[in-house]
Amino acid sequence: MTNLPYAVWPELVQHAENLKTKQLKALFLTNPDRANRYSIETAGIYLDYSKNFFDDKTESLLIKLASESGVFSLAQQMFEGVALNNSEQRPALHTLLRAKSAPPGLEDSFAQVSQSLARVKGISDAVRNGQWRGFSGKTIKQVLHLGIGGSYLGPKMVDEALASSRPKPEDDFVCHYVANVDAHHLDEVLSQLDPAETLIIVVSKSFNTLETMANAHSTRLWLLNAMPQADLNSHLVAVSSNIPAATDFGISVDNILPMWDWVGGRYSVWSAVGIPIAIRYGFDVFQQLLDGASEMDQHFLHAEPQYNMPFVMAFLSVFYQHCFGSETHAVLTYDHRLRYLPDHLQQVDMESNGKSRDIDGNALPYHSGAVIWGGEGTNGQHAFHQLLHQGTRTTGVDFIMTLRPDHQHQDHHDKLIASCLSQSQALMQGRQLEEITGAANELQQKHKIMPGNRPSNTLVLEHLDAQHTGALIALYEHKVFCQAAVWHINPFDQWGVELGKELGDRILNALNGNTENLDGSTRALLNRYAASQKR
Ligand code: F6P
Repeated sequence: MTNLPYAVWPELVQHAENLKTKQLKALFLTNPDRANRYSIETAGIYLDYSKNFFDDKTESLLIKLASESGVFSLAQQMFEGVALNNSEQRPALHTLLRAKSAPPGLEDSFAQVSQSLARVKGISDAVRNGQWRGFSGKTIKQVLHLGIGGSYLGPKMVDEALASSRPKPEDDFVCHYVANVDAHHLDEVLSQLDPAETLIIVVSKSFNTLETMANAHSTRLWLLNAMPQADLNSHLVAVSSNIPAATDFGISVDNILPMWDWVGGRYSVWSAVGIPIAIRYGFDVFQQLLDGASEMDQHFLHAEPQYNMPFVMAFLSVFYQHCFGSETHAVLTYDHRLRYLPDHLQQVDMESNGKSRDIDGNALPYHSGAVIWGGEGTNGQHAFHQLLHQGTRTTGVDFIMTLRPDHQHQDHHDKLIASCLSQSQALMQGRQLEEITGAANELQQKHKIMPGNRPSNTLVLEHLDAQHTGALIALYEHKVFCQAAVWHINPFDQWGVELGKELGDRILNALNGNTENLDGSTRALLNRYAASQKR
């Protein structure tokens, strides 16, 4: 149990103790309207949070916490472009990327966003309608996206989510994504591509990231094996805020789309970083993604705390973490097409809230971000759900399901949805000793006990299209923001990734000679590696 510095906190802790004495399933008996009472619907997403330790008293404490933490005034400031990212002295304006109009004072930035979107449309239309030709006059059939972290996870996740809404097979552009510096993947992908029909998109805000640059340089050589340097321009596009580095690499300014320092990589799928979506599915679909996010933005800005989907989800996560000892949060997607969502959310959440200093630089006296993990249902049921059901810890769980699939196998969908619902039900109900029948012996009977009383959220999407996908991602972005506000941390910097990058560079240099400053373990491992290489 860790205390957060709010006047309401002791009351919240005491209330949690009271709630722990209750059975979740019994709460439905005392309040038959509970599912209706504790649910929120917005932007085509329905959140059922009734299977949580939540009652009217919790709700009143949630409202007090919202007010004491100032979360909604901070949200307002974020949308207005206040420099909330104080360690880098910049605003966090991903919401501007999907805004319908310019907030006061942000007219210039809004105009830049509009221009960038117009260029995304221009390039994606030209590729799709065959006007964009490769060096030999062939049209583009394949896109290779090179980027990592936020310059990869968002587009990859969205691309997979929309894969079954492709209009017609003949319109289909295949997008490949290579992030890792491990060239097994790059080789595998390049071996499937014809340079004459491939457009390479190098996405790197810094244009200095080791993995992306290594992949970009090797891919450039692959292109040069097939075409003269003068023709590279018809096969290379960059998305970056470092225009000099991208032009030095050999990409013409006309082919460089902007990123801005006021958009963090993990929040950048809404910018030109999402251009593979526009190429593969059409600009209109990309716009629908932005529209869905924008709808969620408006909900977040205007809904009362107790009806505010991101805030309610954030509150529950904080509540479980600090009052129930929960250390991790699982996102379980009962839609195969959302299988990359946990990966994307790992970056959005853990890179944002994995902090141990508060916004003023003081060491945090309480825990911040939880470990985010997950996977696709039903596969996880036959793997890690055991721990959810019978492990010793409470884990926050979001089940995500889609009402209308894009396939014709009704029987499969029925089974998928039944599995999703049965998992949250099993977590809540458990199975007590007296309910167990047919055990071989007393020992087995004990092992069959499931404690139950384990909470979860269920998110229901009407349909998995671009609009709903946009709203879903924005929901989690704002959830992460709310948690950061409650913890009084800056969710928009990520200094923790820097040391590894610096040491990586040093070790790379050490490979060519000086290993003196390395610790014994690293030196021995490096020597072992060096000895194995036939250079
Ligand atoms: O190493 C972490 C990180 O800086 C992320 O924050 C970012 O999304 C990713 O690397 C890629 O950075 P870039 O877009 O500059 O290549």
